[in-house]
Amino acid sequence: MKITDSILWVGVHDHAIDLFEGQYAVPNGMSYNSYVILDEKCAVMDTVDARFAGEWLEKASAALGDREPDYLIIQHVEPDHSGSILRFLEKYPKVTLAATSKAFPMLKNFYGVDPEARVELKADTVLALGSRSLHFIPAPMVHWPEVTLTYDDRDRVLFSADAFGKFGAWDTEEPWTDEARRYYIGIVGKFGAPVQALLKKAAGLDIAAVCPLHGPVLKEDLGTYLALYDVWSAYRPEEKGVLIAYTSVYGHTRAAAELLKDRLAAKGQKVRLMDLARSDPAEAVAEAFRYDRLVLASTSYNGGVFPRMRQFAEELAEHGFQNRKVGIVENGSWAPCAAKTLREKLEGCKNLTWAEPQVTIRSALDRDSREALEALAASLAE
Ligand SMILES: Cc1cc2nc3c(=O)[nH]c(=O)nc-3n(C[C@H](O)[C@H](O)[C@H](O)COP(=O)(O)O)c2cc1C
Ligand SMILES: [Fe+2]
Ligand SMILES: [Fe+2]
Repeated sequence: MKITDSILWVGVHDHAIDLFEGQYAVPNGMSYNSYVILDEKCAVMDTVDARFAGEWLEKASAALGDREPDYLIIQHVEPDHSGSILRFLEKYPKVTLAATSKAFPMLKNFYGVDPEARVELKADTVLALGSRSLHFIPAPMVHWPEVTLTYDDRDRVLFSADAFGKFGAWDTEEPWTDEARRYYIGIVGKFGAPVQALLKKAAGLDIAAVCPLHGPVLKEDLGTYLALYDVWSAYRPEEKGVLIAYTSVYGHTRAAAELLKDRLAAKGQKVRLMDLARSDPAEAVAEAFRYDRLVLASTSYNGGVFPRMRQFAEELAEHGFQNRKVGIVENGSWAPCAAKTLREKLEGCKNLTWAEPQVTIRSALDRDSREALEALAASLAE
């Protein structure tokens, strides 16, 4: 598939995968992108997951025709991209491997690959291919420490490694934003500062297309994608709205969450209600990042908080959740303790404002707890 007259996509679509990176549900599969650049010299951008080595190698060879590749550029050593490197080196033993200094020891540890023909990519490296040169933007921790992005100065293409990727194989039609958000928050979300640094560098480039390692090639509305990445990596809310995330054993906390939702909706607020036990965990975290307000409603459980809620709060903290207004509704039959536990879990999160009042339900809703929920709705809607 042609991206430009001399850049070809040679990636694969994986519809057999159940969980990406061992935990993320990907109902529409996953794409591992790879590209061939044909010029006086030829470069192959990354490989694909080892399970697709054969299919990928056929596509890459077909794109190269009777040419030998001069460079194999490894932008990211994570196995979903480097997994077919040995098969490639078997077929093209004379290729020069190009990667950052942090990538080479990883390639040795993963695959025993330790080539003499190598170029160590740095911020000032220029690989002249003929009519174009490739420039590199090392992006440590835009997923892993060895990552680099690549810019083609003739076709004005930014090869963006894991950045601007998404869940879902792109041979299946679906909107970009929801699955890109879930992917970004889940996989890169913790590393907002390096992404901000990268966006500043990218702002100085004239970009006609972004070629990520997952998801579709982006050619139109590039400003929209860049703006979303800026919002996500700066931990700013994407839109006004309230996520009410709840857990419930017997249904009383659910009733409280539903009542709060109704009261907020009556005040004209956008609300999303999620039962954490029945929702995709990564989607729940992504939704918390999407909106400017969050309510955690949970049963007390063994002196703490219900397991799925505990995990949710831990994941929020781990992903750098911040800059939001948060309300808490707890339920307990003898010693309610969910709220205290949740506050402790979120202690390290920067710039959280607690919405008052904190609501305590003792087993089932009563007049007091209904009134407290009404007051919480009013303070959230302010
Ligand atoms: C295994 C288990 C542990 C619990 N631990 C506590 C607890 O430590 N403190 C407490 O007050 N209630 C505890 N409860 C009771 C529930 O928190 C309480 O009944 C609550 O009202 C349930 O709300 P729900 O109707 O939304 O499930 C526990 C319940 C279960 C099933
Ligand atoms: Fe990655
Ligand atoms: Fe990846």
